Amino acid sequence: MNHRLELGYLVLEVPEPDTLSTTFADVVGLVPGEPTASGAPTWRNDGRAQRLVVEAGSANDAVAVGFEAVDADAFDQAVARVGATEDADLASARRVGRLARATAPWGTAVEVVLDLADAPTPFSSDLVPGGFLTDGVGFGHVVFATTAFDESLSFLTDGLGFEQSDWLEMELAPGLTLEVRFLHCNARHHTVALARAPFDLPQVLHHVMFEMNERDDVGAAFDRLWATDLGIPNGLGRHDNDGMFSFYLQTPAGFQVEVGHGARVITDGWDDNRAYDAISAWGHQPLRQA
Ligand SMILES: [Fe+2]
Repeated sequence: MNHRLELGYLVLEVPEPDTLSTTFADVVGLVPGEPTASGAPTWRNDGRAQRLVVEAGSANDAVAVGFEAVDADAFDQAVARVGATEDADLASARRVGRLARATAPWGTAVEVVLDLADAPTPFSSDLVPGGFLTDGVGFGHVVFATTAFDESLSFLTDGLGFEQSDWLEMELAPGLTLEVRFLHCNARHHTVALARAPFDLPQVLHHVMFEMNERDDVGAAFDRLWATDLGIPNGLGRHDNDGMFSFYLQTPAGFQVEVGHGARVITDGWDDNRAYDAISAWGHQPLRQA
């Protein structure tokens, strides 16, 4: 299994960053990191300085995704293949040692980075006593929906060196097929998934996923979600391909957050790259509109 990159961080841009605090702090159980120099709130799910950065602005979407290289060699190779430009000032703002930036075909910036700093304090979340699964697999996964599907797939595989884990082809309605490609760059079943959008959607980010170490912590997070008035596009269920036990909430910004536990891992000699025709083995019913 080819382990060269991990999901380092995600930069969101929404008109009012504080509107996401209930979701991240009170439901998911993330803890605040130090705000950025420009005052943007940040969030942690492990010992690193920041895993989410929430900037104020009009995009109302993900605007950058950071992939942390495991070493300088992996950094140099990814940077050369995608033609990214090194930016020392932005590296300091993102709390990384080195950073090079390119624009992905799906429209967000991609930042290949090295040495994401540790936070000044160890990670501990009162709401998630078992903590989050991040060691060696990055902070979670992200799913983008794009009309520039083929170019995006090639950018991830030929450029960043991702490999396909499996894919989903599911007929949603006559003539309307959902296609999603699941891609790994370490043992996490997918660090990025790409959905083929039939037309340009208002947001490229479909969801960001946080994986908890304990199944009961997912249940407790679902109880906290139930007590809010946030939308629940998918209640508890289990995905067919990665086996993740999870639920989805809709943030006030529109994009979703998946909270899960127990996904399959990619092992050496992975030979289960095949088509699935269902998203879920069970569950994941739409429960509540915002
Ligand atoms: Fe997901």
